[in-house]
Amino acid sequence: MTFNADKIDRQARRILRDNDRGGYTVPTAGLYPYQWNWDSAFTAWGIASFDIKRAWFEIHTLFTGQWDNGMVPHIIFHKRADGYFPGPDVWAVPRVPHTSGITQPPVAATMVRSIYEQDKRYGRVHMELIYGRLVSWHRWFIANRVHDGMVAITHPWESGRDNAVDWDGAMANVDGSAVGEYTRRDTTHIDPEMRPKKEDYDRYLAMVKYGRDCGWDEEQIREGSPFRVADVGMTFILLRACRDLLHIAYDLDHLTDEIEGWIRLLEEGVKRHKNPKGYFDSIDLRTGEFADSLSSASFLNWYAGVEDTDMLAHLHDVLDRVEFGVPSFDPRGDQFNPLRYWRGPVWGMMNALIGIGLEEMGHVPIAQKLRKDTQRLISESGFYEYFSPIDGTPAGGHAFSWTAAIWLTWAGPHARGRF
Ligand code: SER
Repeated sequence: MTFNADKIDRQARRILRDNDRGGYTVPTAGLYPYQWNWDSAFTAWGIASFDIKRAWFEIHTLFTGQWDNGMVPHIIFHKRADGYFPGPDVWAVPRVPHTSGITQPPVAATMVRSIYEQDKRYGRVHMELIYGRLVSWHRWFIANRVHDGMVAITHPWESGRDNAVDWDGAMANVDGSAVGEYTRRDTTHIDPEMRPKKEDYDRYLAMVKYGRDCGWDEEQIREGSPFRVADVGMTFILLRACRDLLHIAYDLDHLTDEIEGWIRLLEEGVKRHKNPKGYFDSIDLRTGEFADSLSSASFLNWYAGVEDTDMLAHLHDVLDRVEFGVPSFDPRGDQFNPLRYWRGPVWGMMNALIGIGLEEMGHVPIAQKLRKDTQRLISESGFYEYFSPIDGTPAGGHAFSWTAAIWLTWAGPHARGRF
């Protein structure tokens, strides 16, 4: 170890405190000035390593955004903030706090279980309050988004992996030509080469407009939206989240039949995500075609409790080609770009999920490699949003909350290294 671990721990805690806006934590100042759903769950997990009370507060604040139908939106616009587009006026959701109209990967049950288990005496009342909210959110997924056991997204932003190669085929069916003039704000904060392209943004906005014109009615969106993809990452993450919810249910003496049914359904869905090349892949539900994208989300199978020897072989192949795993897209693919957001860069929080899953299922050396890679990236370059898997070049936003969180929980030498 050639770095001062105590010092980096202090920096990580400082980032989480500096990004605190009073009850919620922004992913990073400037680029993302509101509360983001899965960022916030990771962040709460990180904060729990030094302030369990504040960690629970983060979770409660996230759920103030929950809709009556159970959906937990991907952004909660608690306070007015500059520098982000599209803001609450574009989403036009008639509630307070204002929110976006789409969801994000449900990692919350997994993070909440970890926070609860770190101090059950203190956490019991919080867990009782949040349990029903988690159940309602998962029930919303099952009722509205699960097709043949696979979780569908209605917008790439829901996946959290905005410009992943997974969506290229389905995005081609979205007409972005009529969105009119708008000003992107992300590219004023970050090098445009590290962000999605204009043609992606035109389509993202066309889909927001479509959802808004449907009054965010799930049935209408399901019938008519040009974009509906079974996201392999979402399926794995929801399956894992349901397993953690089941543990919480046992602990709190709640009924478990419904959750057990969801787990069986999603376990069946996982099998349908396996493509003819032998890896887990997303599927365009409008055409039935596989995306042909070996992404970091493909490797979330262990996190979801799913063993798979083909995936282990694919993981070794991919890791042999990069200095720092796991790249967000297969480095052998033509679309691979080491610095453009979800088309190649390595993300610390994905490594944490993949690494913890691998370790839980007995693949300790490869899990340790991912942990060391992530430790090196952060200790050598800082708390960036993502990094080049080829040479570790830092990219995207800096002083990033979830990168700080996973340092404290998993990647750093003083971290527990598990949930
Ligand atoms: N990740 C999206 C953005 O960059 C929204 O969640 O704005």
